[in-house]
Amino acid sequence: MEERREILDFAGEIALDAGAILLKGFRSSGLVVTYKGVSNPVTSTDRESEDFLFARIRGRFPDHGVIAEEGSRVKGAGDYLWYLDPLDGTTNFAHGVEHFSVSIGVYSQRERRPVAGVVYDPCRRELFSALAHGGAFLNGEGIRVSATEDLSRSLIATGFPYDKNLSYENNLAQLGRILPRVQCVRRFGSAALDLCYVAAGRFDAYWEMKVSPWDIAAGCLIAEEAGARVTRFDGSPYDIEVPEVLAASSGLHGRLLELLA
Ligand code: IPD
Ligand code: CA
Ligand code: CA
Repeated sequence: MEERREILDFAGEIALDAGAILLKGFRSSGLVVTYKGVSNPVTSTDRESEDFLFARIRGRFPDHGVIAEEGSRVKGAGDYLWYLDPLDGTTNFAHGVEHFSVSIGVYSQRERRPVAGVVYDPCRRELFSALAHGGAFLNGEGIRVSATEDLSRSLIATGFPYDKNLSYENNLAQLGRILPRVQCVRRFGSAALDLCYVAAGRFDAYWEMKVSPWDIAAGCLIAEEAGARVTRFDGSPYDIEVPEVLAASSGLHGRLLELLA
Protein backbone atom coordinates (compact mmCIF):
# COMPACT_ATOMS: atom_id res chain seq x y z
CA MET A 1 0.00 0.00 0.00
CA GLU A 2 2.92 2.36 0.82
CA GLU A 3 4.35 1.97 -2.68
CA ARG A 4 0.94 2.59 -4.24
CA ARG A 5 0.36 5.64 -2.07
CA GLU A 6 3.67 7.04 -3.35
CA ILE A 7 2.60 6.30 -6.94
CA LEU A 8 -0.77 8.00 -6.38
CA ASP A 9 0.79 11.10 -4.81
CA PHE A 10 3.21 11.40 -7.70
CA ALA A 11 0.40 10.90 -10.24
CA GLY A 12 -1.58 13.70 -8.55
CA GLU A 13 1.44 16.00 -8.61
CA ILE A 14 2.15 15.53 -12.34
CA ALA A 15 -1.57 15.73 -13.21
CA LEU A 16 -1.66 19.23 -11.68
CA ASP A 17 1.42 20.24 -13.71
CA ALA A 18 -0.07 18.76 -16.89
CA GLY A 19 -3.27 20.69 -16.09
CA ALA A 20 -1.22 23.90 -16.13
CA ILE A 21 0.07 22.92 -19.60
CA LEU A 22 -3.53 22.48 -20.76
CA LEU A 23 -4.57 25.89 -19.41
CA LYS A 24 -1.58 27.53 -21.13
CA GLY A 25 -2.73 26.13 -24.51
CA PHE A 26 -6.46 26.62 -23.96
CA ARG A 27 -7.93 29.31 -26.28
CA SER A 28 -4.38 30.34 -27.20
CA SER A 29 -3.58 31.69 -30.65
CA GLY A 30 -0.66 29.26 -30.99
CA LEU A 31 -2.80 26.14 -30.63
CA VAL A 32 -2.36 23.80 -33.60
CA VAL A 33 -5.27 21.43 -34.33
CA THR A 34 -4.87 18.47 -36.70
CA TYR A 35 -7.14 15.47 -37.33
CA LYS A 36 -6.55 11.76 -36.70
CA GLY A 37 -9.92 10.98 -38.35
CA VAL A 38 -12.88 12.93 -39.77
CA SER A 39 -14.08 14.05 -36.33
CA ASN A 40 -11.11 13.09 -34.14
CA PRO A 41 -8.89 16.09 -33.38
CA VAL A 42 -5.50 16.23 -31.71
CA THR A 43 -3.81 19.47 -30.67
CA SER A 44 -0.28 20.65 -30.00
CA THR A 45 -1.29 20.75 -26.32
CA ASP A 46 -2.22 17.02 -26.25
CA ARG A 47 1.35 16.27 -27.35
CA GLU A 48 2.97 18.77 -25.00
CA SER A 49 1.07 17.33 -22.03
CA GLU A 50 1.92 13.76 -23.09
CA ASP A 51 5.66 14.49 -23.54
CA PHE A 52 5.74 16.09 -20.09
CA LEU A 53 3.93 13.21 -18.34
CA PHE A 54 5.94 10.53 -20.12
CA ALA A 55 9.27 12.11 -19.20
CA ARG A 56 8.28 12.62 -15.56
CA ILE A 57 7.09 9.03 -15.13
CA ARG A 58 10.17 7.60 -16.86
CA GLY A 59 12.41 9.74 -14.65
CA ARG A 60 10.76 8.65 -11.41
CA PHE A 61 9.81 5.01 -12.14
CA PRO A 62 12.19 3.72 -14.83
CA ASP A 63 10.99 0.12 -14.44
CA HIS A 64 7.30 0.98 -15.01
CA GLY A 65 5.64 0.61 -18.40
CA VAL A 66 3.74 3.49 -20.01
CA ILE A 67 1.06 3.58 -22.72
CA ALA A 68 -0.14 7.02 -23.75
CA GLU A 69 -2.85 7.94 -26.22
CA GLU A 70 -0.74 9.93 -28.67
CA GLY A 71 1.81 7.16 -29.14
CA SER A 72 4.41 7.32 -26.34
CA ARG A 73 5.05 3.75 -25.25
CA VAL A 74 7.59 1.89 -23.17
CA LYS A 75 7.57 -1.63 -21.78
CA GLY A 76 8.60 -1.86 -18.17
CA ALA A 77 10.33 -4.67 -16.33
CA GLY A 78 8.00 -4.31 -13.34
CA ASP A 79 4.33 -4.92 -12.63
CA TYR A 80 2.95 -1.43 -13.20
CA LEU A 81 1.70 0.01 -16.46
CA TRP A 82 0.64 3.67 -16.65
CA TYR A 83 -2.22 4.55 -19.00
CA LEU A 84 -2.11 8.23 -19.89
CA ASP A 85 -4.72 10.40 -21.51
CA PRO A 86 -2.82 13.69 -21.63
CA LEU A 87 -5.97 15.61 -22.63
CA ASP A 88 -9.33 13.91 -22.35
CA GLY A 89 -11.94 16.08 -24.03
CA THR A 90 -9.89 17.34 -26.97
CA THR A 91 -12.98 18.23 -29.02
CA ASN A 92 -14.12 20.57 -26.23
CA PHE A 93 -10.59 21.94 -25.86
CA ALA A 94 -10.22 22.64 -29.57
CA HIS A 95 -13.55 24.53 -29.54
CA GLY A 96 -12.72 26.59 -26.45
CA VAL A 97 -15.23 24.71 -24.26
CA GLU A 98 -14.13 24.50 -20.62
CA HIS A 99 -14.56 20.79 -19.95
CA PHE A 100 -11.51 18.53 -20.28
CA SER A 101 -9.10 16.67 -18.07
CA VAL A 102 -5.83 14.82 -17.58
CA SER A 103 -6.34 11.13 -16.84
CA ILE A 104 -3.67 8.86 -15.34
CA GLY A 105 -4.45 5.25 -14.45
CA VAL A 106 -1.86 2.86 -13.04
CA TYR A 107 -2.57 -0.78 -13.89
CA SER A 108 -1.20 -3.85 -12.12
CA GLN A 109 -0.42 -6.49 -14.74
CA ARG A 110 -0.34 -9.14 -12.03
CA GLU A 111 -3.79 -8.22 -10.68
CA ARG A 112 -5.12 -7.29 -14.14
CA ARG A 113 -6.80 -4.12 -12.88
CA PRO A 114 -6.12 -0.44 -12.22
CA VAL A 115 -4.80 0.08 -8.70
CA ALA A 116 -4.27 3.86 -8.61
CA GLY A 117 -5.86 6.65 -10.61
CA VAL A 118 -6.19 10.41 -10.85
CA VAL A 119 -8.30 12.60 -13.09
CA TYR A 120 -7.68 16.36 -12.98
CA ASP A 121 -10.02 19.06 -14.29
CA PRO A 122 -7.82 22.18 -14.43
CA CYS A 123 -10.72 24.56 -15.20
CA ARG A 124 -12.48 23.72 -11.93
CA ARG A 125 -9.33 22.70 -10.04
CA GLU A 126 -10.89 19.36 -9.22
CA LEU A 127 -8.54 16.44 -8.60
CA PHE A 128 -10.31 13.08 -8.38
CA SER A 129 -8.26 10.18 -7.06
CA ALA A 130 -8.48 6.61 -5.84
CA LEU A 131 -6.36 3.70 -4.71
CA ALA A 132 -7.71 0.14 -4.95
CA HIS A 133 -9.42 -0.67 -1.64
CA GLY A 134 -8.71 2.89 -0.44
CA GLY A 135 -11.86 4.86 -1.33
CA ALA A 136 -12.35 7.70 -3.81
CA PHE A 137 -11.60 11.37 -3.23
CA LEU A 138 -12.18 14.81 -4.69
CA ASN A 139 -9.50 17.28 -3.59
CA GLY A 140 -8.86 14.99 -0.62
CA GLU A 141 -12.50 14.68 0.54
CA GLY A 142 -14.25 11.31 0.27
CA ILE A 143 -16.90 10.97 -2.46
CA ARG A 144 -19.79 8.57 -2.94
CA VAL A 145 -22.13 7.58 -5.77
CA SER A 146 -25.75 8.70 -5.71
CA ALA A 147 -28.27 6.55 -3.86
CA THR A 148 -31.09 7.03 -6.36
CA GLU A 149 -33.16 4.03 -7.40
CA ASP A 150 -35.60 5.97 -9.56
CA LEU A 151 -34.53 5.72 -13.18
CA SER A 152 -37.04 8.39 -14.24
CA ARG A 153 -35.23 10.93 -11.99
CA SER A 154 -31.72 9.93 -12.98
CA LEU A 155 -29.20 12.00 -14.94
CA ILE A 156 -27.09 9.76 -17.15
CA ALA A 157 -23.93 10.51 -19.14
CA THR A 158 -22.71 8.91 -22.33
CA GLY A 159 -20.47 9.55 -25.33
CA PHE A 160 -20.41 8.82 -29.04
CA PRO A 161 -17.56 7.10 -30.84
CA TYR A 162 -15.31 8.88 -33.33
CA ASP A 163 -16.34 6.44 -36.09
CA LYS A 164 -20.04 7.40 -35.71
CA ASN A 165 -20.15 8.40 -39.38
CA LEU A 166 -18.74 5.04 -40.54
CA SER A 167 -20.43 2.50 -38.27
CA TYR A 168 -23.98 1.76 -37.19
CA GLU A 169 -22.48 0.75 -33.82
CA ASN A 170 -22.60 4.40 -32.84
CA ASN A 171 -24.62 4.32 -29.61
CA LEU A 172 -27.84 5.67 -31.15
CA ALA A 173 -29.74 2.40 -30.53
CA GLN A 174 -28.73 2.41 -26.85
CA LEU A 175 -29.54 6.13 -26.56
CA GLY A 176 -32.95 5.49 -28.10
CA ARG A 177 -33.77 2.92 -25.43
CA ILE A 178 -32.39 4.85 -22.45
CA LEU A 179 -33.30 8.49 -23.17
CA PRO A 180 -37.10 8.10 -22.92
CA ARG A 181 -36.80 6.39 -19.52
CA VAL A 182 -34.51 8.77 -17.62
CA GLN A 183 -34.66 12.40 -16.50
CA CYS A 184 -32.11 13.22 -19.19
CA VAL A 185 -28.87 12.22 -20.86
CA ARG A 186 -25.70 14.35 -21.03
CA ARG A 187 -22.81 14.21 -23.48
CA PHE A 188 -20.14 16.35 -21.80
CA GLY A 189 -17.15 15.08 -23.82
CA SER A 190 -14.63 13.74 -21.31
CA ALA A 191 -15.10 10.06 -20.50
CA ALA A 192 -12.68 10.33 -17.57
CA LEU A 193 -14.72 13.15 -16.00
CA ASP A 194 -18.01 11.36 -16.76
CA LEU A 195 -16.82 8.46 -14.60
CA CYS A 196 -15.65 10.85 -11.86
CA TYR A 197 -19.02 12.63 -11.91
CA VAL A 198 -20.66 9.25 -11.30
CA ALA A 199 -18.23 8.76 -8.41
CA ALA A 200 -19.22 12.15 -6.96
CA GLY A 201 -22.97 11.46 -7.31
CA ARG A 202 -23.44 14.21 -9.91
CA PHE A 203 -24.37 11.77 -12.67
CA ASP A 204 -26.31 8.68 -11.61
CA ALA A 205 -24.70 6.55 -14.33
CA TYR A 206 -22.49 6.61 -17.41
CA TRP A 207 -22.19 4.23 -20.33
CA GLU A 208 -20.07 4.27 -23.44
CA MET A 209 -18.82 1.93 -26.16
CA LYS A 210 -15.55 2.04 -28.13
CA VAL A 211 -13.61 3.70 -25.33
CA SER A 212 -9.86 3.13 -24.95
CA PRO A 213 -7.93 2.04 -21.85
CA TRP A 214 -6.48 5.54 -21.29
CA ASP A 215 -10.02 7.04 -21.29
CA ILE A 216 -11.29 4.80 -18.49
CA ALA A 217 -8.40 3.28 -16.49
CA ALA A 218 -8.42 5.96 -13.80
CA GLY A 219 -12.14 6.77 -13.92
CA CYS A 220 -13.33 3.16 -13.58
CA LEU A 221 -11.26 2.73 -10.42
CA ILE A 222 -12.46 6.07 -9.01
CA ALA A 223 -16.12 5.20 -9.71
CA GLU A 224 -15.72 1.70 -8.28
CA GLU A 225 -14.04 3.01 -5.14
CA ALA A 226 -16.89 5.50 -4.70
CA GLY A 227 -19.36 2.60 -4.64
CA ALA A 228 -20.44 2.35 -8.29
CA ARG A 229 -20.99 -0.94 -10.03
CA VAL A 230 -18.65 -0.81 -13.02
CA THR A 231 -19.15 -3.53 -15.64
CA ARG A 232 -19.25 -4.47 -19.29
CA PHE A 233 -22.62 -4.49 -21.06
CA ASP A 234 -23.10 -8.19 -20.22
CA GLY A 235 -22.73 -7.46 -16.51
CA SER A 236 -19.25 -8.98 -16.15
CA PRO A 237 -16.58 -6.93 -14.34
CA TYR A 238 -15.09 -4.10 -16.38
CA ASP A 239 -11.84 -4.72 -18.18
CA ILE A 240 -10.05 -1.61 -19.43
CA GLU A 241 -8.96 -3.49 -22.53
CA VAL A 242 -12.60 -4.20 -23.45
CA PRO A 243 -14.03 -1.04 -25.03
CA GLU A 244 -17.38 -0.76 -23.23
CA VAL A 245 -18.34 0.35 -19.77
CA LEU A 246 -21.41 0.93 -17.63
CA ALA A 247 -20.85 2.64 -14.27
CA ALA A 248 -23.92 3.14 -12.12
CA SER A 249 -25.16 3.24 -8.58
CA SER A 250 -26.33 -0.21 -7.54
CA GLY A 251 -29.97 0.93 -7.51
CA LEU A 252 -29.89 1.64 -11.26
CA HIS A 253 -27.26 -0.70 -12.63
CA GLY A 254 -29.50 -3.73 -13.29
CA ARG A 255 -32.20 -1.76 -15.12
CA LEU A 256 -29.61 0.02 -17.30
CA LEU A 257 -27.95 -3.30 -18.16
CA GLU A 258 -31.29 -4.59 -19.44
CA LEU A 259 -31.66 -1.50 -21.60
CA LEU A 260 -28.11 -1.82 -22.98
CA ALA A 261 -28.29 -5.55 -23.71
C1 IPD B 1 -12.78 11.15 -25.94
C2 IPD B 1 -13.63 11.71 -24.84
C3 IPD B 1 -15.09 11.56 -25.17
C4 IPD B 1 -15.45 10.13 -25.45
C5 IPD B 1 -14.56 9.53 -26.50
C6 IPD B 1 -13.09 9.71 -26.13
P1 IPD B 1 -10.38 12.34 -26.29
O1 IPD B 1 -11.40 11.25 -25.62
O2 IPD B 1 -13.37 11.04 -23.62
O3 IPD B 1 -15.91 11.99 -24.12
O4 IPD B 1 -16.78 10.09 -25.87
O5 IPD B 1 -14.86 8.15 -26.59
O6 IPD B 1 -12.26 9.16 -27.13
O7 IPD B 1 -10.25 11.97 -27.73
O8 IPD B 1 -10.95 13.67 -26.08
O9 IPD B 1 -9.13 12.08 -25.52
CA1 CA C 1 -9.76 10.28 -24.17
CA1 CA D 1 -6.97 12.38 -25.36
